[in-house]
Amino acid sequence: MSGTRVRGSLLKESDLSKAEFLSLVEHARALKNDRRAGTRCRRLIGKNVALIFEKSSTRTRCAFEVAAHDEGAHVTYLDPAGSHLGKDESVPDTARVLGRMFDGIEFRGFDQHTVDQLAEFSGVPVWNGLTDQWHPTQMLADVMTMVENHRGPIESIAVCFTGDGRNNVARSLLVTGALLGLDVRIAAPRQLWPPDDVVQIANDLAATSGARLLVTDDLSTAVDGVDFVYTDVWVSMGETDEHWAQRVPLLLPYRVTAAVLKSSHNPDVKFLHCLPSVHDRSTALGRRLFDQFDLDGAEVTDEVFTSPASVVFDQAENRMHTIRAVLVNALAD
Ligand code: CP
Ligand code: NVA
Repeated sequence: MSGTRVRGSLLKESDLSKAEFLSLVEHARALKNDRRAGTRCRRLIGKNVALIFEKSSTRTRCAFEVAAHDEGAHVTYLDPAGSHLGKDESVPDTARVLGRMFDGIEFRGFDQHTVDQLAEFSGVPVWNGLTDQWHPTQMLADVMTMVENHRGPIESIAVCFTGDGRNNVARSLLVTGALLGLDVRIAAPRQLWPPDDVVQIANDLAATSGARLLVTDDLSTAVDGVDFVYTDVWVSMGETDEHWAQRVPLLLPYRVTAAVLKSSHNPDVKFLHCLPSVHDRSTALGRRLFDQFDLDGAEVTDEVFTSPASVVFDQAENRMHTIRAVLVNALAD
């Protein structure tokens, strides 16, 4: 089969309706409760899932593996070097082959076009586990975490992303918030604002959903009154290390500090991060940034990262519950 996208695929947020997105989140919340209660449900026995990773991953890979295993499915992991994909076999040919063997395919990599082609030519559901453009499975977990930490209707959630506003997570957050009708603010230096086509997609969605969107270089305005402050690494996977020299001075005013949380004027404000994070000197990268730029932590201080306001590990756990909802929704008989 080719040329059709199979029901249950998740390539980017704007492919879903608000109702579809929220139904996955609600399903994930129910699955989380079941898992905590020890209820075992194996709805995917006999299913086979391919996990293709062109880039590194801890959360996304483990979430897919554990969610699939808990449901009785089998996974095959294809690492960044270990398949012919995109090197000596075209993406459409690989897609056609995998579609004959697997019931669903997860892809993490560089180009959105690759995951789109996998969906077009495999004939099975395909899930985007992060590309340079979008990170939709992350968004399901982020919305779930915000819902868990918010009183009132989802449309009353206000979230500020501060940092590299042009990266996959910032783009996805803007479009997700626009789809769901949230108040989303992106605070970033102008060079790192989301591209115009992404802002256009978000504005079009906001016209229907009633979302309030702001892209600004003024962090204090962006953070005022929000429920959540969200940041991500300053240099994303696939970008060269040379970017650090430019990004550190550009993004230092946008790092999340205790003062930034305070300037939300919300004593209950929560801190979000997709992870991994540079928040101290415990990694090789953290030590290098300290030696090179005298910087202890980068996009967030250790004080904020380890504070009670930080819900980053709930957010990471929620990757598993939301990805399980995606798998069950797509593959259960
Ligand atoms: N947040 C996220 O996608 O983490 P990994 O890179 O570890 O999968
Ligand atoms: N923007 C980051 C997200 C990692 C989950 C990256 O692409 O590296």
